[in-house]
Amino acid sequence: MKILILNGSPRTERSNTLQLALAFANGFPEETNTEVVHLYKQNIKPCLGCFSCWTKTPGNCVINDDMQTLYEKLENADVIIECFPLYFFGMPSTIKVMTDRCLPFMKTYLGTSDEDGKSSFHQLRNSAMRSKSLVLISTCGYVHTTPMYPALLKQFDLICGEGNYTAILCSEGELFGYEGLAERQRKGYLSDVTKAGAEFAETGAISEKTAERLSRPVLSPSGFEAIVRSHWGGEEFPQI
Ligand SMILES: Cc1cc2nc3c(=O)[nH]c(=O)nc-3n(C[C@H](O)[C@H](O)[C@H](O)COP(=O)(O)O)c2cc1C
Repeated sequence: MKILILNGSPRTERSNTLQLALAFANGFPEETNTEVVHLYKQNIKPCLGCFSCWTKTPGNCVINDDMQTLYEKLENADVIIECFPLYFFGMPSTIKVMTDRCLPFMKTYLGTSDEDGKSSFHQLRNSAMRSKSLVLISTCGYVHTTPMYPALLKQFDLICGEGNYTAILCSEGELFGYEGLAERQRKGYLSDVTKAGAEFAETGAISEKTAERLSRPVLSPSGFEAIVRSHWGGEEFPQI
């Protein structure tokens, strides 16, 4: 079993979100091979919009940069985890650039579309890509995820088709950047993420019970607010 973690945070190793992705991978059996790619460190140029990957070089991108190695890694992975912070209600540019460069994996658009918009608008070119599991792990800075993620989830539904990916969305992401801060709650959340990983490894899905726990804020909104206020106000963090 191979897990490929695509970390879209420019904070690379210090990313809040990466901690969740690593905790999720920890739930997989020991022999699982996990690789992390920090997209911020990669030389991945934006898509040229030339459509060569559909015409002159079907299935292949003409841009010769680090994405060529990443295509191989994507093809060889069993589970792909896209892990990134929410930026302005959407994906950060590192993930968007990589996503656009995935056009070679898609079949051409022939003017047909699914009117209810519930399935992906493009089919995947090869069946090997269809058998992979996609997990979206994201943190945001707000106290609740519901008002923050509708646009991103809609985008994933349109790209992948509803139900074709698993999402873990976590509010109060900044708590994961500071050791010792709300330690008990932070550790508790991470251990639930590891449980989610174990369930996913076994069944290909996260149980309703674990998903419900992960949808709760790590810390009470008032506790988080106290931390955020003192942080941006330059004061010491209160003990929560
Ligand atoms: C440019 C920028 C835009 C952001 N936009 C949002 C946002 O729309 N909603 C939100 O709740 N948090 C937003 N945040 C906060 C981050 O999502 C949050 O701090 C996250 O935990 C950072 O994760 P990372 O350490 O993995 O990069 C934004 C942060 C930055 C730097």
